[in-house]
Amino acid sequence: MAIMEEIKAVHVGLGPLGSRIVRHIVEERRGIRYVGALDISPDIVGRDLGEVAEVGRELGIRVSDDPEKVFSETKPDIAIYTTTSFARDVFSQMEPAIRNGVNVITTCEQLVYPRYAAPELAEKYDSLAKQYGVTVLGTGINPGFLMDVLPIVLTLGCTRVERIEVTRRMDAGVRRKPFQKKIGVSMEPNEFREAVSSGKITGHVGLEESISLIAEALGWKLDEIRVERVEPVIAEEEEVSSQFFTVRPGQVKGLKQEAFGIVDGRDRIHLYFTAYLGASPSFDEVRIEGSPPINARVSPCWHGDEGTVAVVVNLIPTVMNAPAGVLTMIDIIPVSFKSGNVARFVRK
Ligand SMILES: NC(=O)c1ccc[n+]([C@@H]2O[C@H](COP(=O)([O-])OP(=O)(O)OC[C@H]3O[C@@H](n4cnc5c(N)ncnc54)[C@H](OP(=O)(O)O)[C@@H]3O)[C@@H](O)[C@H]2O)c1
Repeated sequence: MAIMEEIKAVHVGLGPLGSRIVRHIVEERRGIRYVGALDISPDIVGRDLGEVAEVGRELGIRVSDDPEKVFSETKPDIAIYTTTSFARDVFSQMEPAIRNGVNVITTCEQLVYPRYAAPELAEKYDSLAKQYGVTVLGTGINPGFLMDVLPIVLTLGCTRVERIEVTRRMDAGVRRKPFQKKIGVSMEPNEFREAVSSGKITGHVGLEESISLIAEALGWKLDEIRVERVEPVIAEEEEVSSQFFTVRPGQVKGLKQEAFGIVDGRDRIHLYFTAYLGASPSFDEVRIEGSPPINARVSPCWHGDEGTVAVVVNLIPTVMNAPAGVLTMIDIIPVSFKSGNVARFVRK
């Protein structure tokens, strides 16, 4: 078997997360070399990648806004997309990569299970990816790992699974500023509710995708996915603050959200996501009702940004080794409890 010496990468979307991935790859990893970078922001395009990502030195790569040119000239092995949460947008953004035979890994939340939000596009781009022999994978820390892959993998050691409950309670104070902003930190409660109604605050994007992924892995047929309204978490007696915001009593310090996967008329999947300044203890917890019963807790909660960087970079070789198509994490890590007729999981 031939061993590759170096993976050539192009980065697309140099916001806080993209820049952090670039810094990590450049400063701490061997075997991945950037050959190009793309963004659409006029503040970023034309500048050196090292400067934009704050690597501390120039990398000799100008950030471009011309995907066709970058992909056809640099012929990378992988394109890393950290641009948007929405499938509709990211699929069209990644088309030039696919048509140039470039594998794609993205943190786009809806791409973790694209058949939920955009079934027609998932099918269309699955065919396109197969036509060009490339793999497309949506992943990240959550969705992509904590509230789906982790419980799925834990069910592997169970002979029976009745119900899965996953809680992520995050101290938002350690997250980047855009994250704190998008969970409404320092808003007044009425302002928060208006922002939810107008769609300015979406809550955690990915609960539907995580539930879909768990159900598919175990072979549970979902009657329905029910996502409850996003609710604010209000600071009560004391002021709380982060590097970026100060929250007075009565103001919003974060949000909470619950989602249910209804199977056989029961809520057999329950996800509870909450993120606010000063959450203590913070944790990620998976409880499996079944045999044996499982109660697995990671505390403090997994650091979302660092975890996302790790998941993306660690999966690059996996994506390159995987078969062509638009895949999900359970295509590449197919280990879980198998409900019902075990034979139906065999793909011939
Ligand atoms: N799955 C997970 O666990 C996970 C974890 C963390 C983050 N995420 C997601 O990953 C994405 C990136 O995070 P972030 O905080 O860095 O987001 P961000 O601040 O919105 O940065 C995105 C960057 O991509 C640029 N961009 C937008 N459309 C583009 C296009 N068509 N081509 C090239 N560049 C484009 C944006 O430019 P403009 O600013 O001009 O639009 C911006 O510079 C977000 O959607 C976030 O929700 C997922």
